[in-house]
Amino acid sequence: MGIPRTWGGVLGGLSAFCAIAQAQTSTPSPTSSASAQFTVPAEANFAPAVIPNIKDPQAVDAQTVCPGYTASNVQQTSSGFTASLALAGNSCNVYGTDIDALSLTVEYQREDRLHVSIVPTHIGAENATHYIIPPGYLAEAEVEESNVVSGLEFSWTNDPSFGFEVTRKSTKDVLFSTKGTKLVFENQFVEFKSSLPENYNLYGLGESIHGFKLGNNYTKTFYAADAGATVDINVYGAHPFYLETRYFTEGADGKLTLVTSDETSPNSNYTSLSHGVFSRNAHGQDILMQEDSITYRALGGSIDLYFFPGPSQPEVTKSYLTTVGLPAMQQYWTFGFHQCRWGYKSWAELEDVVNNYTHFEIPMETIWTDIDWMLRYRDFENDPEGFDDESSKGFIQRLHDSGRHYVPIIDSAIYIPNPEDLEDAYPVFERGNEAGAFLTNPDGSIYVGAVWPGYTVFPDWLAEGTEQWWIDEMVRYHQTTGYDGAWIDMSEISSFCVGSCGSNNLTLQPVHVPFALPGEPGNPVLIYPEGFNKTNATEAAFASSARASWSSAYPTTSATSSASYVRTTPTPGVRDVNYPPYAINNVKGPLAVAAISPNATHADGTLEYDMHNLWGHGILKATYNALSAISPDARPFILGRSTFAGSGSYAAHWGGDNWSNWPSMIFSIPQALSMSLLGIPMFGADTCGFADNTDMELCNRWMQLSAFFPFYRNHNIIGAISQEAYRWSSVIDASKTAMAIRYQLLPYMYTLFYHAHTKAETVMRALAWEFPHDPSLANADRQFMLGPSIMVIPVLEQGATSVNGVFPGLIEGEEVWYDWYNNTAIPVPSQANTTIPAPLGHIPVYARGGSVLPLQQAALTTRDARNSPWDILVALAKDGSATGKLYLDDGVSVTPDATLHAEFKVENRKLETIIEHGGWVEENSLRNVTIWGVEKTKSPIKFNGKVVSAKNVHFNGDKHTLVVSLSSASAWTGKGWSLEW
Ligand SMILES: *[C@@H]1O[C@H](CO)[C@@H](O)[C@H](O)[C@H]1NC(C)=O
Ligand SMILES: *[C@@H]1O[C@H](CO)[C@@H](O)[C@H](O)[C@H]1NC(C)=O
Ligand SMILES: *[C@@H]1O[C@H](CO)[C@@H](O)[C@H](O)[C@H]1NC(C)=O
Repeated sequence: MGIPRTWGGVLGGLSAFCAIAQAQTSTPSPTSSASAQFTVPAEANFAPAVIPNIKDPQAVDAQTVCPGYTASNVQQTSSGFTASLALAGNSCNVYGTDIDALSLTVEYQREDRLHVSIVPTHIGAENATHYIIPPGYLAEAEVEESNVVSGLEFSWTNDPSFGFEVTRKSTKDVLFSTKGTKLVFENQFVEFKSSLPENYNLYGLGESIHGFKLGNNYTKTFYAADAGATVDINVYGAHPFYLETRYFTEGADGKLTLVTSDETSPNSNYTSLSHGVFSRNAHGQDILMQEDSITYRALGGSIDLYFFPGPSQPEVTKSYLTTVGLPAMQQYWTFGFHQCRWGYKSWAELEDVVNNYTHFEIPMETIWTDIDWMLRYRDFENDPEGFDDESSKGFIQRLHDSGRHYVPIIDSAIYIPNPEDLEDAYPVFERGNEAGAFLTNPDGSIYVGAVWPGYTVFPDWLAEGTEQWWIDEMVRYHQTTGYDGAWIDMSEISSFCVGSCGSNNLTLQPVHVPFALPGEPGNPVLIYPEGFNKTNATEAAFASSARASWSSAYPTTSATSSASYVRTTPTPGVRDVNYPPYAINNVKGPLAVAAISPNATHADGTLEYDMHNLWGHGILKATYNALSAISPDARPFILGRSTFAGSGSYAAHWGGDNWSNWPSMIFSIPQALSMSLLGIPMFGADTCGFADNTDMELCNRWMQLSAFFPFYRNHNIIGAISQEAYRWSSVIDASKTAMAIRYQLLPYMYTLFYHAHTKAETVMRALAWEFPHDPSLANADRQFMLGPSIMVIPVLEQGATSVNGVFPGLIEGEEVWYDWYNNTAIPVPSQANTTIPAPLGHIPVYARGGSVLPLQQAALTTRDARNSPWDILVALAKDGSATGKLYLDDGVSVTPDATLHAEFKVENRKLETIIEHGGWVEENSLRNVTIWGVEKTKSPIKFNGKVVSAKNVHFNGDKHTLVVSLSSASAWTGKGWSLEW
C-alpha cells in the first residue's frame, strides 16, 4: 500500500527549501504523544511548488522558438541508413541546452519492426545515461540479418527543417509524421510531434486509470508515483507504447477511405488496420494527445522509436512483446483465488481466514500478508508477536498440505539502524551496506529517505553487489519462512520525505512516518461506497459526518496555496535535475516529493533522474533471480507495483491502491485491457476495493467481475470493515457462482497464458481486438473477452438489476453467443444495445459460437481442480464448426520436461481431437462432451467410431443441447479421439 489518499496529493511550497539529496538540516521537533518515538515532520515531504508546463500560462511553446535541425551526410547501411543532424539556426535553449550535433539511424530491423534513433553525436562516459538506458538493464531488441522486407517506409525532408514520416507501404497511409514540426533536442528536454488523423483511436501508454481509448484531449505523464489509483494522473508504471487502429471503407477500386468511429454504424463491416509505436525513453515525460497530434516531451533520454506495422492488434502486440520481452509464464496455482488484507495480525489469524473459506466452501488458494508480518516494518524479519519464526513452519506446512500458498509483501526500502543504539541492529542493512548496495548522495554519503520502518536506504540496481545481496536476503528469509511468491511494493520508488531527510537524524531511529497510521489520531475516518446511503442510511450518515469532522480537525495543505512557483531557466551545460526547466505534470509536483530525489546517485555516477522510471523494473529482475535461486526449476511468482516496458517478463501487476467505490471497479477493466497490450497479462485490481469501507453490493459485483481477470485477489486496508468473500451470505453465493465458472475454465486460462508466454497472444481482450471490423467497439470497455471464446458483461452500476451490453457480430449474423447459464443461443436482438437481466449475484457470461472449451471441475484449490475429470464444451458456430486448444504441463517448471498439446476441431457434426504428446500423462478421465447449438443428431452417436449406448446420450431438442457421457479413462492417451453426432 502507499501513502493514503488524504496525504497523497500534498504538494510543498510552505516550508524552508531543503537541499535535496543532501542531509536535511531542519531540526525536527519531538512529538507530543506519550510515546518517545520521534515523528518525521510532515514538512519533510514539502518542496517549493512547480506549475506543470501544460498548465502554465507563461509556458513557452518550444515549437515556436526552436530552430529544428538539418539532415546531411546520408550513409547507406546494410539495414537502412545513417545521417547527421545539425541545429538549423540559433540555439533556443528553451528548457535545457541545445545539442548541436545529433546522429540519426534508421534500421529496417525485422519485417515487422522499423527502428528510428536520434542520439547526441558526442556522448562521453559521464553523460551516457543522460541519453541512453544502461545496456543490459532492459531486454535489448534483437536484430535480424540485413535485406529485411519491411511493410513500412521511412522518408524525410529538410523543408522547412528536418522531419520524418513513416508510411504503410501497402496503403500509403502515413502512420507517423514529424514533418512541418520542430525537433527539439536539449540536455534536459527532448520534444517531437507527430500528426494524427481526426478522432484517432489510440490505446496503451499505461499505466493509466483512464478509459480504454485514450482520447484526443489528454496528457499522459510518466513519472512513477506512489499516488493511489486515481484517474488521469501519473501512477506506478511507465509504458511508452501505443497501439493505433484506423478504420476504412473500401471502394470498388480497392481504395481505402479513412472513417472515424463516430461516423460508422454498429456491427457493419469496415476494414481496420492497426500499428504500434514504442518510444524507448525512460525519462520523466509528458505525452500530449491533442486534436490531431501527439507530442512527446521528455526530460532526457533520446529519440528511440520502434514502429510495428501490424496490420492488426495481435501482430502489433506480438511485434512489441518480442521486442521488450514476452510475458512470464505463471504457475498453475497463481490462477486460484487470493485473499489479502493489511491488518492480518498473526499466523493464527491467517489460518482462521483460510479455515473460514474452507468452512463456507469458497475456493481459496493463497493467503497474503501486507506489512503486518514484519518486525517494525523491516523486510525479512518476522514480528515475533504474531508472526514468530517457529510457528511459521507449521502454518506453512499445513497450508501447503492443503494445496495452498503463502505470499508476503516485501518493501523496496531498507531500514537503517540507529548508530547509537546497539539493540537496534539490522543485519540486512549491514550486509547490504558492505556490498555497496545502496544509493548515495552526490557527496558519497548514503542516501536516507523515510518509508514504513522509519528512515530507510534504497537498493541501487546499478551497483555490482546489489543483486547478489538481495538474492541472499531472500534466500535466507525463505529458510525461515517458506513463502511461495513475492509481492514487491513501494517500488516507484516511494519515500515519505524530500531528499536525504534522515542523514543527520539517524540517532532518532526508529522514527515514525510523517502521518498517522491506522488506529492513531489523525487517521482518516473511512467512508462507504456510493449508494450505501440508500441501503444503510444510518451507518452511511454516521460515517460521512465523522469524516467531515475529521477533515476539519486535520485539514490538508492546499496544493496551490503557494503564491509563487519555482521556474528554472537553463544554465549552459548544467542540468538542474531537481527542478528541470520543463515541469512535467507530476501529480506530486516537484520530482523529489514522495519519491527518492532526482540527484540521488548510483554507484556508477548515474543520477536517479535518469533511472527513476526504471527502479521498479530493477527490483523485479532481482527478485526474479532470487526466487529462481530458491527454486531453480519453478516459475517465479512476483506481484510488482512499479513496472516499465518489459516488466511483464518478470512479474504480475495489480492496479495499486484503489478505493472501495464503483468507479474503481469500472476502471479496472480498461486498466486490465491496457496491461494486456503492455505485456502484463497477469493483472487484477484489489477486489471489493482497497481504501475505505466496501459494502455487500459492491463486493458482490466485484467478486464476480474479478473472477474473470487473470489475477484474482481480494485486498483491503487496515481499519476498514472486513471484506473476505464469506462476510455476507449474498457474497458467498455470488463468489461461488462466479468462481465455479473460473475454476472450470482454468485449463482454458492456463492455455491462454501459455500462448501469451510463447506467442504474445493476449488473455483478457478488448472487443475491438476480437471484432476489428466494427468501429463502434473502438471504445468498448464495460465488457470484455477472456481469450477468444468467453465474453463477460458485468453490472458496474450501484442498484442496477440489469445491464446494457452488445453482442458483436449479431446483426451481421455471423456470430452466435450462448448464455453460459442456460446453455442456449441468445436471440438476435433488434438493437445493438441489449438490456440483459442481471440481479445481484448474477454476472452475464457468454461462450462464443465456434469454441471448444476443455473444462475441469470446480474445487476449493487448483490442485484439486486439476485432479478432477474433464468435460469438453463445444459451442457451435452458425456453420456448425468450432475449434479449441489445450496445453498441459506440470504447472510449475520453467522448462517442463513433459507437455501435452491438444487441438479440437468440429466440422460436419464431428469433433476430432488431435493430441501431441510431449511426455505429459493426463490421468483424469474424460467425463462428458456437451454440445451447444445442436439442431439434430444422427443415430447412433459414435465415439472413436464405436456406438455410444443411448443411455449415455441426452439430447434436448428445445434447448439444442447434446450431452454425451463417455467416462473414458483413455481419452488423453492415444493420438486423439473423435465424436460424431
Ligand atoms: C558529454 O560529455 C562529453 C565529455 O565527456 C562532452 O564532450 C559532450 O559534449 C557531452 N555531450 C552531451 C550531449 O552532453
Ligand atoms: C479538454 O480537457 C479539459 C480538462 O482536462 C477541458 O477543460 C476542455 O474543455 C477539454 N477540451 C475539449 C475540446 O474537450
Ligand atoms: C469484413 O471484411 C473483412 C475484410 O476487410 C473480411 O475479412 C471479413 O470476412 C468481413 N466480414 C464479414 C462478416 O463480412
